[in-house]
Amino acid sequence: MKTNQSWGGRFAEGPSESVARYTDSQSYDRALYAHDIKASQAHARMLGRQGIISHEEAMHLVSGLEQVREEIASGAFVWKPELEDVHMNIEARLTEIIGPTGKKLHTGRSRNDQVGLSFRLFVADRMTVWQDRARELCRVLLRRAEEHAQTILPGCTHLQPAQPVSLAHHLLAYAWMFCRDCQRMEDALERTRISPLGAAALAGTTYALDPLSVAQDVGFEHICGNSLDAVSDRDFVLEALFCASTAMMHLSRLCEEIILWANPAFGFVRLPDAYATGSSIMPQKKNPDVAELMRGKTGRVYGSLMGLMTVMKGLPLAYNRDMQEDKEGFLDADRTLEASLHLMAGMMDALSFRADRMREACKAGFLNATELADYLVGKGLPFREAHHVTGQAVAAAEREGKGLEDMELSCLQAIDPRIGEDVHAVLDYAAAVLRRETPGGTGPRSVRTQMEQLRSWLDQPSARAGG
Ligand code: ARG
Repeated sequence: MKTNQSWGGRFAEGPSESVARYTDSQSYDRALYAHDIKASQAHARMLGRQGIISHEEAMHLVSGLEQVREEIASGAFVWKPELEDVHMNIEARLTEIIGPTGKKLHTGRSRNDQVGLSFRLFVADRMTVWQDRARELCRVLLRRAEEHAQTILPGCTHLQPAQPVSLAHHLLAYAWMFCRDCQRMEDALERTRISPLGAAALAGTTYALDPLSVAQDVGFEHICGNSLDAVSDRDFVLEALFCASTAMMHLSRLCEEIILWANPAFGFVRLPDAYATGSSIMPQKKNPDVAELMRGKTGRVYGSLMGLMTVMKGLPLAYNRDMQEDKEGFLDADRTLEASLHLMAGMMDALSFRADRMREACKAGFLNATELADYLVGKGLPFREAHHVTGQAVAAAEREGKGLEDMELSCLQAIDPRIGEDVHAVLDYAAAVLRRETPGGTGPRSVRTQMEQLRSWLDQPSARAGG
C-alpha cells in the first residue's frame, strides 16, 4: 500500500494491506465528517484572524471545506482507506480542490486535538437528540397517564401484589426516570462542550493561536485547562455512554413490565400488532419481540460503556491509538438508544390497557389488606396488632375463596369485635388509592401535581430547544 502523505515522509514503504485494514477508521468515523469540517473551518478562521495565514487563505480553506462537505453529503465523495480516517480524507480532498493552501489547514493543530474537538461536537449533538427522544416518550407517557387517572392495578413489591395504585401513577414513575435521564445528559453536556483545540499533539504549540475564539465559533464556551489532558481524556464519551446505559436500563424495565403484562396470566395490556410478531408454529402466539429486543439491546449499550472504560484504564499520557476504539461503541450505542426511545414512544402510544383485568387482579391479591390494618389502627389497635389481626382475616378469606370486601361482617367480627359496619367503605380498592395523597403518592391530587411538574419541565425553553 502507498505511504500516507500526511506522515509518510520518513517511511520507505506503506503499511501492508492487513495492517491498513486493521488500523482503518474512515469506514466508520466518516460519521463525524460534518463536525470535523465545522471544527476545521473555525480553526482556519482563527488562523486568519491571528495572521498565521492570510485572510484570503483562510477564506479559501473555509469555502474549500464547504465544497468537501457538499460532496460528502451528496455521496459524490470518494473515501480512500489508505488515508486512514475522516480527518485525512477531508484534508486530502481539500488540497485537491483548492491546491497547496489546503496544506496550511493543519498549522498549529494535531489530529489528536482535532479528533477531540470533532468527537466532542458529535457526542454533544447526539446527546441533544437523545434528550429530544426522551422528551417525546415523556409526552406520550403523560398523555396515557391522563387517560388512566381512574384505572387501578396492583402495585407490586417483590413482584407480589402489594397495594393498589393508579395506572397513571405507574406510568408517571417511568416519565420521571426519563426526565432524570434528560437532566443527566444536560449535566454531561456541560463537560462535553469544552474545546481541546490548541493542545496540538500534546504540549501546546508555538503559534499564537486563540483557542477560546475557536471554541466560541463552534458554540462551546470553554477550552480545556491542560493540553495533555485535552488530547487524552475520553470521559466525556464515558459519561454519554453512562447516560445512554441508564436510559436503556429504564427502557428495559418498562419492556419487562410490558412483556409480563402481555402474558395472559396478567392480561393487563394488548400488544399493538405493529409491535408484536407471531410464531411460525404456534398460531395463537403474539410475541412482544420489540420489548424483548429492547431489553436485550440494553446489554450492548452497557458493553460499549464497559468496553471503553477498559480501553482507557491503562493508558499513559497522552494520546494513544487505543483511543480510536471510542467511536464504534459510541456509534452503536447512539443508534440503539435513539431507535429504542423512539420505538418505545410509539409502542406506549399504541398499547391498549385492560382496566377490567387490572381491577380483577387487585381483588385476587388482597390488595386492601393494608386498608384493614390502617382501619384497625383507627379503632385504637397498635399497628403490629392490627397487622396480625388482618393476617388472620386474610387467611379466613383465602379459606373461603373470597376477597376481604366480600366477607360477612360477622366473620370479620369473630376475628376482632372492633371491626364495624364502616369497614366495607374502607375495603374499596379505588378508595385505597384516593386516600394516598402524600406528596408523590398515588392519590389523584398527588398524581395531578406530578403531571403539572412534568409538564412544566417539558415546557421549559431548554427542553424545547433540545438543550
Ligand atoms: N483516528 C484517530 C482517532 O480516532 C485520530 C487521531 C490519530 N492520531 C494519531 N496520532 N495517530 O483516535
